[in-house]
Amino acid sequence: MAKPLIAGNWKMHGSLALIDEFGRALATTELPEGVDVALMVPFPYLAQAAQALNVAGVSVGAQTLSDQPSGALTGEVSGAMLRELGASMVLVGHSERRSMFHENDQAVLGRVRAALGVGLTPILCLGETLEQRDEGRTESVVLGQLDAVFDALDASERAQLVVAYEPVWAIGTGRTATPEQAQAVHSAIRQRLADYSGGLEERTKILYGGSMKAANAADLLAQPDIDGGLVGGASLQVDDFLAICQSAG
Ligand code: 13P
Repeated sequence: MAKPLIAGNWKMHGSLALIDEFGRALATTELPEGVDVALMVPFPYLAQAAQALNVAGVSVGAQTLSDQPSGALTGEVSGAMLRELGASMVLVGHSERRSMFHENDQAVLGRVRAALGVGLTPILCLGETLEQRDEGRTESVVLGQLDAVFDALDASERAQLVVAYEPVWAIGTGRTATPEQAQAVHSAIRQRLADYSGGLEERTKILYGGSMKAANAADLLAQPDIDGGLVGGASLQVDDFLAICQSAG
């Protein structure tokens, strides 16, 4: 099974002071052996986060990137710039990017390619809306989003991705998917990865995201196909986030 990864997604929250708080806490906390930890912080905090968290061996990542390497693209940030500031991962296709910033599957694929091109690990986010779930379309939506990227990549590229299942209705709502609901979708994702190439399903981490907190993390992480978490709100509190990390050990 893939090594567990607990990744915090700060979204547009946080401060330099919070990074320092995490740095101090992580320097004195023993993380469980065999658990990878990452924090996806806003662009302006990347350099400081890479420095403050490096001590504790925690990876730092960004929340999106441009699909272009450079250009007259006011306001955009390239993968190479993220690397230069110390990021090693980047979220791609988060549902907030898909819905609020109109990133379709093609745009998501472009960003995955841009990340891979500079050696950033893309965390590809997938998830259905409540309406799609109620219509019984969860698997087709989620696997469709997966295929839109994986179909276009070669085997060595596919092997570099992390996948995150984040049901849209569970994000920021306090309404977590039950462990069984999450497991069912994770299992379908793993099966689809196996269809791409034998072994891919074993090495690919499949994270769950959506109102994961210290109180429910252990039950979710105990599911056979949940390899970690992508944590929003609870990643803004040092104690909560570290408690989730501990429950992955
Ligand atoms: P919450 O944990 O706040 O529900 O956010 C989940 C998420 O969107 C992580 O990317």
